[in-house]
Amino acid sequence: MGGSALLTAVLAGGLLWISAIHADTNDDGNLLCVCENDKGTCQNGTCRGDYCFYTWVKGKEEKGCFMRHNYREQCSGSFELFYVSCCQETTCNANVIVPSDIVPATAPPALPRPELWIPVSLLLLFMIAIVCGLVIFLRFRRAHCRLRDTEDHDAPMRKVPSGDDPTYGDIFDEFCTSGSGTGLPYLVQRTMARQISLVECVGKGRYGEVWRGTWMGESVAVKIFSSRDEQSWFRETEIYNTVQLRHDNILGFIASDMTSKNSSTQLWLVTHFHELGSLYDFLQYSSMEPESCLRMCLSVACGLVHLHTEIVSSQEKPAIAHRDLKSRNILVKRNGQCCIADLGLAVIHSQSHDYLDVGNNPRVGTKRYMAPEVLDETIRVDIFESYKQTDIWALGLVFWEITRRTVVNGIVEEYRPPFFDQVPSDPSFEEMKKVVCVDQQRPSLHNRLHSHPILSAIVKIMKECWYQNPPARLTALRVRKTLSKLDQDSDFSIEKLKRDI
Ligand code: ADE
Repeated sequence: MGGSALLTAVLAGGLLWISAIHADTNDDGNLLCVCENDKGTCQNGTCRGDYCFYTWVKGKEEKGCFMRHNYREQCSGSFELFYVSCCQETTCNANVIVPSDIVPATAPPALPRPELWIPVSLLLLFMIAIVCGLVIFLRFRRAHCRLRDTEDHDAPMRKVPSGDDPTYGDIFDEFCTSGSGTGLPYLVQRTMARQISLVECVGKGRYGEVWRGTWMGESVAVKIFSSRDEQSWFRETEIYNTVQLRHDNILGFIASDMTSKNSSTQLWLVTHFHELGSLYDFLQYSSMEPESCLRMCLSVACGLVHLHTEIVSSQEKPAIAHRDLKSRNILVKRNGQCCIADLGLAVIHSQSHDYLDVGNNPRVGTKRYMAPEVLDETIRVDIFESYKQTDIWALGLVFWEITRRTVVNGIVEEYRPPFFDQVPSDPSFEEMKKVVCVDQQRPSLHNRLHSHPILSAIVKIMKECWYQNPPARLTALRVRKTLSKLDQDSDFSIEKLKRDI
């Protein structure tokens, strides 16, 4: 099977399966299974399907039935911290025993012979001391390795410690690095999603809502898609579940879930939560120094390079163009770096497998950020490079928003969206086209930016992202390399300054 056919088959299988198990409405299979009483078509603790399933995620169990699709992908997953099992006999999921290597050890059995208690206790104490010593030693070594890993990865980025990994990270990362494809099995995603409590709404728009939720005591972000935008949920779910997308500067995916509630469908996308919110929100109330601006711009460029790059190796990844890059679709992390979110409009391309998948989402990008060739409709929609070039246009605009909030010589500008002084709020397609294509205007750049070495270099990059001719624009890789060099040089001059004082 060719690459694109294979990918399509996997996606179709996965999504058909999602629809089948999540719609929860048409189980017309013959097998009687045990299920939770209050869910879907579960009645009196039983349901009917082609298979019975049992999932165990960190102590929480779920039982139910599902239809035939994708049995192999979904039912073979078991790993430290979660367990999935499926079976095909009447109520066979009633009393599943989770293997002991998955369930953390419980209390040891009582000792039958009292005369052995003292020597055994001493032996235990001795062993505990050895284990503690070993754990401390290993943790020390692992911390050292982790630091080295993060330093190797995207070498020029400066890392700020951000605390321990969350436990969903443990589950996800351990599963993914065990060589098992891309994400968690859908059954595990569904179980996790249904264990989330929604806490507060942190964003609302045409797309739907974003909530902070908690899962096992940790914050997660839950994007609830509006029913109008279900294609974006499908696309994002499809991409996160088929492409290896773990990267510091791409929003971390946890789970996708589709549920039926009073005959309406709820679409959830669960991701890492970033309390500083979107770059758009952040820039409203924060200004920064040139070095922070550089690091922020560099982190966005790193994320975009990862998206745009096809990887041809065992960790295969197609190239992806975002198509709706903007400050509202970028999140700010505690360490001052950003990560790119919202892959609902993305296009996928693989040169090695010879396919271009533009999806079938009727949504278009945000007009304010549209490149000239999108506005005058001359874009070559059959060529993947075209989509990357529109991302670069938008990247320049995001850099412009960040530089406005950067303090140089004590001067900083208010937050404004791109073209704020050239078009009204919520501009029409025609209004944007007049400014960007007919008059060929560009966002204005404050004089102070030219007087600082870092900012003048970023200004040069922005201008090269805004060429009318799309192929003339910089690539994400070139932007990243230039910014990395700038970052290294500024580190070097700070070090030199310190030495000279
Ligand atoms: N707003 C949108 N997505 C978010 C996330 N993942 N974390 C915090 N705020 C968000």
